[in-house]
Amino acid sequence: MTATDWIALVVAKKAPLAEGVMGFELRAADGRDLPAFTPGAHVAVRAPNGLERKYSLANDPDERDHYLLGVKREPNGRGGSASMVDDIIEGQTLQVSTPRNDFPLKPNPAGYILIAGGIGITPIVSMARHLLNTGVANFHVYYCTRDAASTAFLDDLKGPDFRGKVTVHHDGGDPAKALDFWPILERPKGQHIYCCGPRGLMDAVRDMTGHWPTSAVHFEAFSEAEANRPDDVAFTVKLRPSGETIKVPAGVTILDALRAAGHQLASSCESGTCGTCRTELVSGEADHRDLALTEDERQRYIMICVSRAKSPELLLDLGSNL
Ligand code: FES
Repeated sequence: MTATDWIALVVAKKAPLAEGVMGFELRAADGRDLPAFTPGAHVAVRAPNGLERKYSLANDPDERDHYLLGVKREPNGRGGSASMVDDIIEGQTLQVSTPRNDFPLKPNPAGYILIAGGIGITPIVSMARHLLNTGVANFHVYYCTRDAASTAFLDDLKGPDFRGKVTVHHDGGDPAKALDFWPILERPKGQHIYCCGPRGLMDAVRDMTGHWPTSAVHFEAFSEAEANRPDDVAFTVKLRPSGETIKVPAGVTILDALRAAGHQLASSCESGTCGTCRTELVSGEADHRDLALTEDERQRYIMICVSRAKSPELLLDLGSNL
């Protein structure tokens, strides 16, 4: 990962975007333009309690004078989002990284299927705004939420600009009432899919796009919760060919444990979606938590930024992580 550049930005506006979702408009104190970003980009923010969190930028990249964040307060998270929502006041200065993009919208004349679940709408709405404002007409947004009250950006997406381009689906919190994506994804027509949302939604989309070219299907994990689960246990990683063994405690990723042991390793998203940290799995049973590997690839590789072990030990070869 490259070193992060930080800038001080002022919270110009803090206002709810939906039930449980707070919007933050960040601007430079002197009103100057902010570093440019592209649709799908995110920034890291240092929350008042000291935790660092990544948030997608939800505004149109052409709006250079501010960044718009949508933050869902996660009561069971590690406190970063709660601190953002509860502790920040308008006028406060925050340390914010310059934008980076692990979920870039690639030019595609055949168009786009944009799929969002819950707060996963933040990069998707930026993409939709960008496509609309650059005259790209062949896209459609599918946006799944519990109910209208919890649906951020609903007025924008239901507005006249997006007429005919957005399907909003409420499931009432009942998985049995989830939108069936099969009729939408059954026949690929050259579009690219961009999907961001809860794990269940992304797994469903991945399961239904096995017949799509992998280069046409893009995921962004908006939550880091999948990398850490309450019932996680420690395990050991053994390296080939050195035989070095490294303990991976609960709450620590393989990537971080290896780095702490002095290994230099490539990574980018650190949320299991970009494919950068792919590492050869020689033996042991992995607990795959990524969205980057196919079922076949999972026999030979592991994404060490999020995945763990089901067996007491994994044998890895770091030669493939270059
Ligand atoms: S760093 Fe992106 S998948 Fe691991």
